[in-house]
Amino acid sequence: MLQKPRGTRDFLPDEMERRRLIERRMREAARRWGYREVSTPDFEHLELFTMKSGEGIIQEMYVFEDKGGRQMTLRPEVTAAVLRMYVNEGKVLPKPIRWCYFADCFRYERPQKGRYRQFWQFGVELIGADTPSADAEVVMLADDVLRSTGVAFDLHVGHLAPMKHLLADLAPGDQRAIMACLDKHDTAGLEAALVEKNLTRLTEPLAALSECRNVSEVFEITGDIPERARIEEIFSLLDSQDIDYRPDFGIARGLDYYTGMVFEGFAKNLGAENQIIGGGAYRLAHLFGGDDVASSGFAIGFDRVVVSIGDFPLVDEPIVGVVCTPEARARALDVARAFRSAGVRAEIDLMQRGMGAQVSHAAKTADFAVILGKREVEAGTVTLRDLHSGKQQERSLEDAIAEVARHGSC
Ligand code: HAM
Repeated sequence: MLQKPRGTRDFLPDEMERRRLIERRMREAARRWGYREVSTPDFEHLELFTMKSGEGIIQEMYVFEDKGGRQMTLRPEVTAAVLRMYVNEGKVLPKPIRWCYFADCFRYERPQKGRYRQFWQFGVELIGADTPSADAEVVMLADDVLRSTGVAFDLHVGHLAPMKHLLADLAPGDQRAIMACLDKHDTAGLEAALVEKNLTRLTEPLAALSECRNVSEVFEITGDIPERARIEEIFSLLDSQDIDYRPDFGIARGLDYYTGMVFEGFAKNLGAENQIIGGGAYRLAHLFGGDDVASSGFAIGFDRVVVSIGDFPLVDEPIVGVVCTPEARARALDVARAFRSAGVRAEIDLMQRGMGAQVSHAAKTADFAVILGKREVEAGTVTLRDLHSGKQQERSLEDAIAEVARHGSC
């Protein structure tokens, strides 16, 4: 028996309905903030992601050569593609541009619970606003979108400037290696890297920075840095809105394009793979031939949010099984169509079952049976049976539709 590829999943109807409901809540929340949906291709030129996304992601990409000999890749994330699209088609739009997306991404990772090779992201990109208000808007929106789903989470907000200040004298390669350890919370790796590079003087300030729980402590470690006023304003805007977050200046982010404010969120009830959101301020457009526009955004790991929320009862719209004799089939098709026109789901037998077998099948799959025999066809009526209570009554088609529609959610 053929199996699905490792790290991918199939979704049965109940799960798809739950996923769609959560997805709809996310879209609606973003829409209320003025973010409009965009879509980019599933695959892109490899170059788009090798320019700035960072080593980690490059090793994880599904790369292939197309028939024209071009190096292509399935998208490992959406931000670079959205910024490419902005350079191609969006430069003339009034700024700031507020876009959102829901898209599947592909990373060749070691699959485990919450880590897949095909996974979905709901994300936003805010392009063209380089202000503390823009940084704060993205965090507030992230909080709103996650809250709309009901997931329980902790939000950590930081800024790269203090960490970069501590690492300022280092060669870019060393800086990246140390930030990669910080990103993975790899304390042993960090210590080894600092010893190897003769940088143990940084052990203590880096640890102290990660432990800061309010903004003023940060500047006791770094001194007065140029970004101070901006950082203070971002956090005071978040505080003014009662956003429940923790300042975290140990956030390094795995992708290489971030330039300023950064943030991450963690589901309270997940294990190792509990990070459900990552984002921040970045610059990418200039690499793709555009202006050096300031942007910020985030992506939510949709699948992890779904796992964290768990199963919940679906609000089930009633379903009607139309049961008929062979002679009444044409009338049954009309009746089914009338229910569907009224917005009610209706199914009709396709298995040439007898009336009894049709009713038994409807009892397993539907809430109501609408029975059409010789008498009903002649009288222009239907017999409506409530399959939960067993009660049945002959009535006009209009009355039957009204009765079923009254059960809006069974
Ligand atoms: P990221 O942190 O690489 O950021 O991914 C965002 C989220 O996608 C993660 O927090 C995680 O929940 C989810 N995720 C990542 N890899 C997997 C996987 N293998 N399986 C399941 N979920 C996964 C970005 O992608 C940036 N583009 C975010 C961004 C948007 N920054 C600015 N704008």
